[in-house]
Amino acid sequence: MREAMANAEVGDDVYREDPTVRRLEERVAAMLGKEASLFVPSGTMANQLALLVLTQRGDEVLVGEGAHCLWYETSAAAVLGQLQLTTIGRGGFFSADDIPPALRPAADWNPRVTAIAFENTHNRAGGRIWPLAQRRAALERARSLGLRCHLDGARLCNASVASGEALESLCDGFDTVSICLSKGLGAPAGSMLASSRDRVDEARRWRKRLGGGMRQSGVLAAAGLYALDHHFSRLADDHRNARILYDALAPYGALEPESNIVMLDLRGEQSAEQFCGRARDRGVLATAFGERRVRLVTHLDAPTAAVERAANILSELAASR
Ligand SMILES: Cc1ncc(COP(=O)(O)O)c(C=O)c1O
Repeated sequence: MREAMANAEVGDDVYREDPTVRRLEERVAAMLGKEASLFVPSGTMANQLALLVLTQRGDEVLVGEGAHCLWYETSAAAVLGQLQLTTIGRGGFFSADDIPPALRPAADWNPRVTAIAFENTHNRAGGRIWPLAQRRAALERARSLGLRCHLDGARLCNASVASGEALESLCDGFDTVSICLSKGLGAPAGSMLASSRDRVDEARRWRKRLGGGMRQSGVLAAAGLYALDHHFSRLADDHRNARILYDALAPYGALEPESNIVMLDLRGEQSAEQFCGRARDRGVLATAFGERRVRLVTHLDAPTAAVERAANILSELAASR
């Protein structure tokens, strides 16, 4: 990947003259079945650009519980888009029938509910994948009610590899889709926003407005292309490694993983913060995701042997309470 970055052909992407960025944008648009895509620095920016191009100031956007764009994007939807986000459903997912009651009658005092965001895989739900039939039914209902639909696909490649469903099919019916080249795919930075050409052009203006227009960003795009070529199918290794963690930690409160995230609900006295501190001292990085919940993520820098060592350390710590 470093070699691909060093050898990347570059130009000024603010002038749309970087051939490597353009190649990446065309490739991702085709992969996701959309007209165009845009290279952006982060998944947060991709999500926020999507909301900005799908809505008007003052609109309301429906999201699942624990949505990344609600929890972890420093209120960007409120600050940038002046949007109100409202959660529906449970555990990050919602059904078709959850949508109509969340819509509001047209009245001067009601916000206009104009968009809905799905997240697949769902981070706070522990990397869970939207069940196919439920996703299709919810998407169809949302569309029939006139909502614009965004897919936060930061880990969509994980969803594709784990479920066997093609990316294009996972994106079908969504107006905008974000995916991350960092995270499991292993690029140092970069995410993509895919949509219609008009919306991507509008998102490009917003990207510049927010300071995300980059010059010789082909160096980063080359890492993204390399990641798509070499790190996509190997996500299956991360999913297998997540099972290793689960098998070791199931007696201590681990939830069964569907992709590369394992949630551990501690049962003893120690808090998630204490547990993560002890794990860090023994060389294992984990994130506290609540008072008692710990998030463990497998990725390409953690080969199976390292995951096995981590599983031993973590189960020892979980057992010690
Ligand atoms: C579901 C989801 N969406 C978006 C993001 C944002 O990505 P970034 O950290 O690149 O801003 C993340 C990051 O963890 C995520 O988990």
